[in-house]
Amino acid sequence: MRMPLCVANWKMHGTLAEARPLATGVRDGLRRVKGVEVVLCPPFTALAAVGEILAGSPLALGAQNCHPEPSGPHTGDIAPPMLAELGCRYVILGHSERRRETGETDELINRKVRSALSHGLTPILCVGETAGERRQGLTFTTVEGQLRAGLAEVAADAVGRVLLAYEPVWAIGTGANATPGQAGEVHGYLRGLLTELASKETAGAMRIVYGGSVKPENAEELAAEPEIDGALVGGASLNVQGFVTIVKKTAHSGAVRGA
Ligand code: PGA
Repeated sequence: MRMPLCVANWKMHGTLAEARPLATGVRDGLRRVKGVEVVLCPPFTALAAVGEILAGSPLALGAQNCHPEPSGPHTGDIAPPMLAELGCRYVILGHSERRRETGETDELINRKVRSALSHGLTPILCVGETAGERRQGLTFTTVEGQLRAGLAEVAADAVGRVLLAYEPVWAIGTGANATPGQAGEVHGYLRGLLTELASKETAGAMRIVYGGSVKPENAEELAAEPEIDGALVGGASLNVQGFVTIVKKTAHSGAVRGA
């Protein structure tokens, strides 16, 4: 049975004045919650402060991006060892906002994935189709291309250390989530590809989370879908009560599913 996992992607939200109470509230709100893992991904500037707040709790720290090189002349960038030093265990890579706004290519994302793995970070590799691609029947083609390119040259035994996130672009920040059926279909397809890239056993143990307008109202039914192993939450993760509810519902569905 795969342990469900909820990732909070705060995006470009969270001055220290906002990040501290948010992290503290989530940590305290989840004190008694079992059967789910939680990762908070604040902006770089809040990583150290949030890391201190989460220290000693089961909640993990993650970053929202990294450079593929461990150091060098890359003004304004952040390297994987810098994240590891702050206690980060995860890093979101290939998010559609970065693919679109900063032109990140599959090739660059692949270099980041391999670098993150070599520095002991778990890449949260995001794949997902646009509305146009879905309309044209290109959903599977798109996510397959992104997955294969993102994991190119990743050794079969390292593939299992990647956390995959299916995030249909049309569902991100729109309020219109994929249905559990739509997401489950793509997750199943991705798991089939992982079987080919690694092994059936590895693919069966890997978690694939869904992201795109996950909220307290839909978290339970999404997590009840057998192929959905949790959520990558953007907007709704900025509210303590909302995110705590999503995590609890995900844990509950996971427990029911595994029973
Ligand atoms: P959303 O974002 O929950 O605000 O739709 C999800 C994401 O982009 O990771």
